[in-house]
Amino acid sequence: MRLHKTLLASSLLTAALTFSCNDAQQNANATTTETEAAIAAPNSLKAAFEGEFTIGAALNGRQAMGQDADAIPVITQHFNSLTAENIMKWGPIHPEPDKYNFEPADALVALSEQHGMELIGHTLVWHNQTPDWVFENGKGKPASKAQLLQRMEGHIRTVAGRYKGKVHGWDVVNEALNDDGTLRQSKWLTIAGEEFLEKAYRLANEVDPEAELYYNDYNMWKPAKRDGAIRLVRNLQEKGIRVDGIGMQGHWGLENPSIAQIEESIIAFSKLGKVMITELDIDVLPNPSNRNGADIDATFEFDEQYNVYTNGLPDSVQQKLAQRYADIFALFRKHSDKISRVTFWGVSDANSWLNDWPIKGRTSYPLLFDRNYQPKPALEAVLQPVNKQANAQ
Ligand code: G3I
Repeated sequence: MRLHKTLLASSLLTAALTFSCNDAQQNANATTTETEAAIAAPNSLKAAFEGEFTIGAALNGRQAMGQDADAIPVITQHFNSLTAENIMKWGPIHPEPDKYNFEPADALVALSEQHGMELIGHTLVWHNQTPDWVFENGKGKPASKAQLLQRMEGHIRTVAGRYKGKVHGWDVVNEALNDDGTLRQSKWLTIAGEEFLEKAYRLANEVDPEAELYYNDYNMWKPAKRDGAIRLVRNLQEKGIRVDGIGMQGHWGLENPSIAQIEESIIAFSKLGKVMITELDIDVLPNPSNRNGADIDATFEFDEQYNVYTNGLPDSVQQKLAQRYADIFALFRKHSDKISRVTFWGVSDANSWLNDWPIKGRTSYPLLFDRNYQPKPALEAVLQPVNKQANAQ
């Protein structure tokens, strides 16, 4: 009897073991298949472009602070690079001479570290979102050159110093050029002269020698602006000042600029270093003067005739947007040897600055995720070619 029981027990045990082995094997098989499937047919942007370029998104304060719960799953599934949309800019992070507001940026650093994402610092020196006190002498008159450069030094040492080793790269100077390639007559230039450019990059390099340092601007597909950016960066590099790459913001339309115009700039900028698409979005709404780019001051009064898709984006325009993104990503993949990163300027249509520019209060649809963080046809259009290629292998 006991022998019988023992045999029974051992065969049950073997069965159980075999079963659990089978289970484990099945699970293992399941996981391998899932992993193989994920590799074979990536269902995320970051997996799709693994080894080609990082894929990022600009996060607003609420997303960085974890106050937008629906955003996190999309962010962690699809992106391996984060940029601060506003919270690391001079105004928000350094509102008064002796006052810094680090909490939102610290939260963004923590989020990027928690998920092993590269963090892009945006931006140390810009003519916009920089408080008036920076450019004034406290008596309502313009600051002196020395005063302004001293303030810039203090700001860069404090902000870039705080995030040393945590920021993968900084947009050191943003939008210092006009579309004709000449230097923008900003208060930085009019008060401190071109020296502000040299000083900003030298300081950033001294404070965080490991962080990549970029020059970032919009309308960089325009030949005159492209040449201006090349002149600006080459001048610095020839003086032994480190500039590792050029950021093309990528605030584009459904037709404009052409793929050929974008390609010409990618190739030209790659001669000086890395090329990044830093603020990608595609404006589908009609625009009063058919203007594009991102001059935040170029705004228009609200006019219903320019707010044409308040009840959702017609399928015909969804398809146009999907095709436009597919064409643009085909170009990026063609030049993945030159492009190190592609960042979307926002996560979902609800977060986009294009709901308020160049006309406040519009309903815009420039990104890959809709207002409920659900994928739009454009996401599939971007992933599909990679899936096809992966499955063909
Ligand atoms: O934080 C204040 C808030 O306290 C106040 O209640 C609210 C009222 O208007 O304004 C909030 O500040 C807004 C800020 O975004 C944060 O949301 C500013 O008004 C608004 O002008 C600012 O817009 C940002 C814009 O840069 C400013 O220039 C956009 O979100 C941001 O997407 C945009 O990003 C720029 C890049 O940095 C550089 N390239 C172009 C790109 C688009 O303009």
